[in-house]
Amino acid sequence: MSSKNRKVRNIGFLWHLEEALPESRSKNKGTIRAALPRDRGLLRKIIVEAYLPEWSWWVRKIGGKEKARDDLMSYVSEFLRDRKKRIFVAEEGGKIIGFSGAAKYNRGTGTIGYGVAVLPGFGKRGIGSILLLAALDWLKKSGVRFVTLEEETFGFANQDTPAMVLYKNLGGKVISDQPVTK
Ligand SMILES: CC(C)(COP(=O)(O)OP(=O)(O)OC[C@H]1O[C@@H](n2cnc3c(N)ncnc32)[C@H](O)[C@@H]1OP(=O)(O)O)[C@@H](O)C(=O)NCCC(=O)NCCS
Repeated sequence: MSSKNRKVRNIGFLWHLEEALPESRSKNKGTIRAALPRDRGLLRKIIVEAYLPEWSWWVRKIGGKEKARDDLMSYVSEFLRDRKKRIFVAEEGGKIIGFSGAAKYNRGTGTIGYGVAVLPGFGKRGIGSILLLAALDWLKKSGVRFVTLEEETFGFANQDTPAMVLYKNLGGKVISDQPVTK
């Protein structure tokens, strides 16, 4: 998907974790685990590729793939260091194929850190859904009640992105929706 000549909207989401989380329909559960600091290298290899092609407009805006890699890895590294934050990874054949992040803040609030990403070629198999549920479940078990996105996601003017479909399917409510100012 390319955003060329298409208007981009910023979209904020909220999850109210007092409501029951939906059951995962995927049978891939065994492949999800919490990431360890030693996974940093593997995550670095795939991180930009997992956000592409949807985020190609952002990769261009930030100045190319290597700048995007550094930016995304500074966030991942912080999540790997901090006990109140966690990255979940999906593995297949010894390779990390997707990840999600979660962070606990004060007074029962938390965030989904930079959302969820799955490598192209592994999509539409329920992996994104299990990764998001793992993050929401960890937050819920830690006493978190309200979850937003660490950074807003985006949609195109007349089209929801796969991430928006995923968030809506898993109980997320749109709380803001505004055009991106250039
Ligand atoms: C969003 C993303 C994580 C979904 O991963 P996934 O493993 O394909 O997710 P699932 O298989 O669990 O599918 C979840 C829902 O999204 C939908 N979806 C997945 N890919 C889609 C696509 N290319 N177009 C439209 N819908 C799509 C699925 O159909 C499913 O909805 P359904 O149950 O109603 O059919 C993946 O597309 C991705 O990595 N995107 C780029 C990164 C990104 O934008 N992350 C969010 C940052 S805020």
